[in-house]
Amino acid sequence: TSGARPLQDLAGLRVVVTAGGTREHLDPVRFLGNRSSGRQGWALATTALARGAEVDLVAANVALPPPAGARVVPVRSAADLHAAVLGLARGADVVVMAAAVADFRPVRTEQAKIKKSGTAAPTIELEQTEDVLAGLVAARAAGELGAPVIVGFAAETGDAEADVLTHGRAKLARKGCDLLVVNEVGDGPRSTGFESADNAGVVLARDGSEQVVAPGPKEALADVVWDRALALLPDRAG
Ligand code: CTP
Ligand code: CA
Repeated sequence: TSGARPLQDLAGLRVVVTAGGTREHLDPVRFLGNRSSGRQGWALATTALARGAEVDLVAANVALPPPAGARVVPVRSAADLHAAVLGLARGADVVVMAAAVADFRPVRTEQAKIKKSGTAAPTIELEQTEDVLAGLVAARAAGELGAPVIVGFAAETGDAEADVLTHGRAKLARKGCDLLVVNEVGDGPRSTGFESADNAGVVLARDGSEQVVAPGPKEALADVVWDRALALLPDRAG
């Protein structure tokens, strides 16, 4: 960034940000993955650093250069990310789960490359991964973490059941986090996200308030997340 030194309103805070997308390996060369580039997590890290925070950045398969000043912890799978985040969250002031974490992984990961045989195709059996965000909420409730503000991200497509916001509100209630940033993904006209430098969304809070963030740089959405998280921290607001 250039120009005036930004307000150091996150000085003294330690934040954990997850970024990118996890990979669940079938064999040494193949994995189940997703389209997350890590850009939103990177924007969260750079804005937090600019505002004076100490940043632990848990990066799942991100190809971007590391933000100067962040402590970057590279991870590959959902299980790796889970272990890294639970370790770092202890004593953190804010944890932002911007990573796209796989919901399912192969029950078995082959040690050698899976070979074709004849015309048959294998059936890949999957199991659920750990829900890191739910684990954080549970650990906080059990008094194991301190009291960090916990922020989730939900990339949604509308479907026959409900629109994007309805899904988001239900997810906030189900997950029990403090803030949930909902954005529409896919190929629809209002979709942003993934490889884009821009993002748009609605920040849903546990108190029922909803803040719309117009399409713009991922840093703008990131700054709204830090504003809202700061307001939830005891003794810090104002
Ligand atoms: N998340 C997580 N661990 C998982 C899956 C998701 O911590 N195994 C986090 C994501 O990082 C995100 C939030 O949960 O911050 C919401 O992710 P999302 O995939 O939208 O929610 P799910 O509960 O997995 O629901 P869905 O069935 O819609 O995928
Ligand atoms: Ca999911």
